[in-house]
Amino acid sequence: MRTVRDIQDEIVRLRKEKDVCVLAHSYQAREIIECADFAGDSYQLSVMAEKAPQNTVIMCGVRFMAETVKILSPNKTVYLANPVAGCPMAEQMDREFIEGVKKMYPDYTVVAYINTTADLKTVCDVCVTSSSAVKIVKKIDNDNILFIPDCNLGDYVAKQVPEKNFKLLQGGCPIHVAVTVKDVNKAKEAHPNALLLVHPECVPAVVAMADYVGSTSGIMQYAMESDHKEFLIGTEMSIAEHLQYNCPDKKFYALSRKLVCPNMKSTTLIDLYNCLIGDGGEEIMLDPQTIKDAKRCIDEMIRLGE
Ligand code: 13P
Ligand code: SF4
Repeated sequence: MRTVRDIQDEIVRLRKEKDVCVLAHSYQAREIIECADFAGDSYQLSVMAEKAPQNTVIMCGVRFMAETVKILSPNKTVYLANPVAGCPMAEQMDREFIEGVKKMYPDYTVVAYINTTADLKTVCDVCVTSSSAVKIVKKIDNDNILFIPDCNLGDYVAKQVPEKNFKLLQGGCPIHVAVTVKDVNKAKEAHPNALLLVHPECVPAVVAMADYVGSTSGIMQYAMESDHKEFLIGTEMSIAEHLQYNCPDKKFYALSRKLVCPNMKSTTLIDLYNCLIGDGGEEIMLDPQTIKDAKRCIDEMIRLGE
């Protein structure tokens, strides 16, 4: 019988032999992260995708992340390891809807969270990720910001950049918004000495209770560098799990059992293996005009994010 370790070894051998770059978002399972070329948050993955020397990339994450790789590297062959892995937030608003909203706010710069479809990105001005949003919005040469689709991340950014005017729409991550103040109080009661670290996709009332607010990588870095010993992790469960592996002398607790993203969890080690042997995954195909138009706002993100 093959063990997890056997399959991991085979994946590492195959990706080297076939010269394939395997990228994994930090929400992926431990066994996938261990055999990826690079793991990180959505900003780091988009930068790595462009820099990777390989001509083939497999994304273990969700669809918009694989699309971002294709937009930045149109000459590469890009696969999404499991085709059912979408991001519900990315599907909440489409291009036609935002074109209509833009007509109502013609003087606003449209800032799109990277959790959007390639088609929607074609009509946006600049992309942001949770780790780069505040820095980028501060640098935009316009005080009027239409922030889409996540109103919770938008609210967090608006509070960090009070000198600008924000219009927010009613989008968001169904996983992070499910966490309530009641959940936080319950978790704090169970772990009174723990620091609370949350992702800005959580609702403002939860964000307001946090000791630190940041992206998946921001949360991991903060916890690893902190002298503190106990942490409540307010983002997808995997982050608490990875931190517990990395820092065995500290204690990490998931803020709520609701923090499981079924889309991020739909990719398995076997999906990655099957994709590598040409028996699974989906090749991302985007038409050249969509790539050209969507690339403008991603290039702008990288330019302003540096
Ligand atoms: P990061 O930008 O922190 O990687 O987050 C991506 C995401 O989908 C969070 O839910
Ligand atoms: Fe999308 Fe939320 Fe899952 Fe992130 S956690 S991929 S925003 S549904």
